[in-house]
Amino acid sequence: MILTVTPNPCIDKTVFIDDLRVGTFIRAPRYTVIPGGKGTNVARAVRLMGRPATAMVIVGGHTGAHVVDLIRNQDRMDCVPVEVASPTRTITTVLEEPIRRQTAFFEPGSQVTPEEYERTVETFRGAVTGMRVVAFSGTVSDPAIRTLYRDLIPIAKAAGALTILDSHGPEFRLGLDSVPHMVKPNQAELEELVEYKLDSDAARAKAIDHLHGVGIELVVLSLGKDGALVSRAGERFHVKPPAIQEVNPVGSGDALVAGFAIGLLEGMPLDPMARLGVAMGAANAMSWEIGHFTNAEVEDIRVRIV
Ligand SMILES: Nc1ncnc2c1ncn2[C@@H]1O[C@H](COP(=O)(O)OP(=O)(O)OP(=O)(O)O)[C@@H](O)[C@H]1O
Ligand SMILES: [Mg+2]
Repeated sequence: MILTVTPNPCIDKTVFIDDLRVGTFIRAPRYTVIPGGKGTNVARAVRLMGRPATAMVIVGGHTGAHVVDLIRNQDRMDCVPVEVASPTRTITTVLEEPIRRQTAFFEPGSQVTPEEYERTVETFRGAVTGMRVVAFSGTVSDPAIRTLYRDLIPIAKAAGALTILDSHGPEFRLGLDSVPHMVKPNQAELEELVEYKLDSDAARAKAIDHLHGVGIELVVLSLGKDGALVSRAGERFHVKPPAIQEVNPVGSGDALVAGFAIGLLEGMPLDPMARLGVAMGAANAMSWEIGHFTNAEVEDIRVRIV
């Protein structure tokens, strides 16, 4: 089974309009609401491929209850909520359809008290039992819980799970101290970590070697439409997706992580696992909605990867 951990989920609301005229009242004929947050995106993508996934989330208030309801009843996934007093945020994206321009409003995420942090750790201890793969995704909502990934990864490992860390900033750096099995930075996130530009093959190779030096077994550096560099124990290759009609690549990294989570769960060799991840990332980029692709679309892209 695959467990995803999202410390900073949200109600992800997209409002579809023609023209964002600032300072006016605009009627939106259509909007969508999904449970947002990077780990929930991973879980949804796993689910779309016909495998079960459990989504653990830190949630608060009515918006938090809404996130849990949507995970369970809209996405039809198992959910392990950790309830905190501070409310879950809403992210509102205004999408001007004719010109495909997005404007997003990010509210602050939940604060987490020391008691709630302890409860998160204890809840995770219960949730991870029987899980084979755990994906930790996104940033944390409160600087006070930046040690969360560092503290949860050893618990997952002790339970026998393979861990994937996809984050950036201080929580990513601290999480690396606990040596996850796999990391999936994009170029900007890895540049932030190593503090130099990844503007050449040599620089990218050096940064990947740095992560192996820390003890990370599987390093996946995602490169948007250029695919991903995948590296494990002397095997290193570049998987390039075929050209697709890009509509919205947000969440493609999460779809890629979902592909690797399935691959690790099922013991796939590295090459087919990487192709599955890259195809899922590309399939996600083909529609506005995050995690809206089908198994058939992924398959169509996967077989076209050279
Ligand atoms: N325009 C595109 N065409 C084809 N494949 C794409 C495109 N954009 C993304 N992908 C696929 O999705 C994968 C992940 O994308 P990307 O590197 O943008 O992740 P990311 O920056 O972590 O995204 P996010 O955090 O929003 O999920 C890429 O490795 C690639 O396989
Ligand atoms: Mg990402």
